Order: sequence, then C-alpha cells, then structure tokens
Amino acid sequence: PLVLKHLQEDDLTEECKDLMRSLPTADQGFLYQYQGSWIPRSFMQGLLSFNKHFQAHDTDILLVTFPKVGTTWLKSILFSLLNRVRYDPNAQQHPLLTTHPHELVPILEIDIYGGKQVLELTHLTSPRLLSTHLPYSLLTRSVKDSMCKIVYLCRNPKDTFVSLWHFQNNTRVNRGMNPSTIEQDFDNFSNGISPYGPYWDHVMSYWKESLEKSKKIFFLEYEKMKEQPTICLKKLAEFLDCAFSPEEEVKNVVNDIVRLCSFENLSNLEVNKNGKYLAANKAAFFRRGEVGDWKNHLTAEMSETLDRITEEKFHSVGLKF
Ligand code: A3P
Repeated sequence: PLVLKHLQEDDLTEECKDLMRSLPTADQGFLYQYQGSWIPRSFMQGLLSFNKHFQAHDTDILLVTFPKVGTTWLKSILFSLLNRVRYDPNAQQHPLLTTHPHELVPILEIDIYGGKQVLELTHLTSPRLLSTHLPYSLLTRSVKDSMCKIVYLCRNPKDTFVSLWHFQNNTRVNRGMNPSTIEQDFDNFSNGISPYGPYWDHVMSYWKESLEKSKKIFFLEYEKMKEQPTICLKKLAEFLDCAFSPEEEVKNVVNDIVRLCSFENLSNLEVNKNGKYLAANKAAFFRRGEVGDWKNHLTAEMSETLDRITEEKFHSVGLKF
C-alpha cells in the first residue's frame, strides 16, 4: 500500500499561493473556484502539480468520480478485476482484506501530487490503476491525448448529496469544526458549490465525452451496479480488454469479485473500520451503501429542487436518473 503524506498550509508553493489569492472562495474558505470548479483548499497544490507533471501511459486506467458516488467501491472492483490472476478473489491473503481501497488505488491530485514530495509511480506495474475527482475540463492534456482508458462512475444527485453531507460532517468534526445542517450544505450543493462541483457539470462533462469516445470513456452508474453487478462487471472487463475467459465463466469468478467487493463484506473488515484517510474516518467511506437513502433526509421541497435542476441540466444531453 501507499504511504500517504499530505500537505500542510505552509508547504504550498508561491505559485499556488498567488493563484489562490486571486480566486473566489466559498464554504468558509474551504473551497476555491478554479476554472469553473470548486476545488478544496488542500488539493489546489496537487491539482497544479498533477497537471504539470503527470505523464499518462497508453495502458493506464483512470477511475474518475465526483466525491461520494461510490469511488471506494469501484476502486475495490477495478483492483480485484485487474489483479484477479495474481490475487484470487477468494484468497485469504487478498490485499483488500488488509488494506483500505483508498490505499490501493491513489487519487492523483491528492495522494500522488498533493504531498510535499511527489510520490513515485514507478512501483506501479502496467496497467497502472489511478484515480481522480477532477472534471474533464481540468484533466491534463496528457490524459486526453493518450490512449489511456477512463472509467467514469456517477450516482443520482440526491443520494450523492446526502452521502456528501454526512461525509463532510465527519471531516468537519475531525477538524474540530461544527457540523453543518443539511439545509446549509443543501443550499451550497444546489448552487453548484461543493468539492469538485458543480455536480451536474462534472457528470455532463464526462457523459458528453463518453458519447464521442466510447472506446476511451466508460460511463457507469452506481444504481445499475447495485441492480446488476455481474452484468456491469462483465461489460467493464470487456471495455478494459480483460474479459472473463470461458474457464472463468465456469468458475463464476465475476461473482467472487462482486462478493469480495460488496458493501457487507468490505464494511465489516477491521481494516475499513478503524483509522483515518485524510481527515475522514476510514469507516465513513462505508455508511449505508444503498439506493434511495435521500428519502430519509430530504424534504419534498429539497427533492423537487434537485429534480428540477437535474431535469434542466441533463435533459438536453439525454441523461436520466
Ligand atoms: P452512502 O453515504 O450513501 O452510504 P465514495 O467512495 O465516492 O466516497 O462514496 C461513498 C458512498 O459509497 C457511500 O454511500 C458508501 O456507503 C458507498 N459505498 C462504499 N462502499 C460500497 C460498496 N462496496 N457497495 C456499495 N456502496 C458502497
């Protein structure tokens, strides 16, 4: 697993400090509006370094997500899928049984480029499995111009927001801040102000690209993964040129991966219950893992507001939730 070190405020370069001074802020200075997206303060330096230094390989596989759409789940699935020959999904020594998924698949602008020293990527074997939360517009040209493949996961905006609200309160409390009410965070989210937001622009940017570049970008939905995990996994494996062989079909390896990466399995592992990743409890990445939890938290008015924005934004590009 990666040993993660993250930047302190004093470690920012002058270039980054100058840039940040010129940008609008929101959410009590936690977010900076950079080229149309709201980037968390602590990831600004990593974003600049990532764009400056990262060289994509044609064989790279990049998982892209808006926060709280199921990144942790898909990291586990992609790791298991790509390493299934080396690590039998049923093996007692499978890395996922002893390592949190976020420590197996680094987030480029956070874990690799976000620290005082850029972590070396040389220890990663091909295909390198990497991830990012950046919207398409902020992705370095190296990723866009190479043949590397992008897997994009999205989730309905209402569950995404509810998950985000819970998660942000976990990190706020860990930082010694007061938790926010759902109303406060809702106003921000619906106005596009949330980490890596606006949510809608993020999803649309990859959706549009995936329509034009179906060999490069694979668009997955959390809800479909929950409903038909084996079908989704088989399609994902085909997209990544590692389709299940007839022998694997007979052994039902796809089912083994689904089971290994299930919410029930991962959330009950000691390694995912204790400790922290960044400012969050590792356990906070496994909350309920269900579709429709928004019904327990949003008022009818909040639900209508998000429905209206989603319809307005997504209708014209043919996206539905
Ligand atoms: P909830 O807060 O709705 O429970 P991310 O990984 O992008 O931070 O997203 C976290 C969300 O994914 C949380 O949603 C979490 O419970 C859910 N999740 C984590 N692991 C999962 C799994 N194995 N299967 C389904 N959902 C999972």
